[in-house]
Amino acid sequence: MRIELVKGDITDQQVDAIVNAANSSLLGGGGVDGAIHRRGGPGILAECKRIRAERWPEGLPTGRAVATIAGRLPAKWVIHTVGPVHSRSEDRSHLLASCHTEVLKAADELGAKTVAFPAISTGVYGYPLELAAPVAINAVKAAETQVEEVRFVLFDEAAYRAFERALADA
Ligand code: APR
Repeated sequence: MRIELVKGDITDQQVDAIVNAANSSLLGGGGVDGAIHRRGGPGILAECKRIRAERWPEGLPTGRAVATIAGRLPAKWVIHTVGPVHSRSEDRSHLLASCHTEVLKAADELGAKTVAFPAISTGVYGYPLELAAPVAINAVKAAETQVEEVRFVLFDEAAYRAFERALADA
């Protein structure tokens, strides 16, 4: 599997599956979540509501992933995952790693061969980039998957550099 780093907007990525940094409600939010629903259109939210009603009435647990259509996005699917909120007193890195392995499992079930990840949990959820990047890179590298390309789409220079360092050290 190839791992690529791209500086840009995840909603511009022409891949099979775009990963959403969602929250457990699956009802949208800011950041990546807001951009995906805004650009993807109302069909994504409609499917998220159905998933909530039929499979996750209490909300999607942290570290799990579910797939929906991608609406108007240049992708076939959106795979929504809920990252951990960073905690200084509790190591939640296993949950962040789980986001990546669960997304790749969902991608394999769909037959997706190219997957674009944002830097999950490093925005509103406050996970320091220098801690999140190695967890994300190592989880992807360790995954047993048929996905051929994983693309990390970094929104700014700081995130790009953190992932560049993590990839070089992996
Ligand atoms: N494309 C790529 N990366 C983006 C984009 C975008 N359009 N918008 C923001 N980012 C970056 C942020 O700079 C950050 O590095 O994605 C990373 C994740 O930030 P968030 O989107 O805030 O996601 P997260 O930290 O996982 O928090 C999730 O935020 O938007 C709400 O509903 C969401 O409650 C959930 C929480």
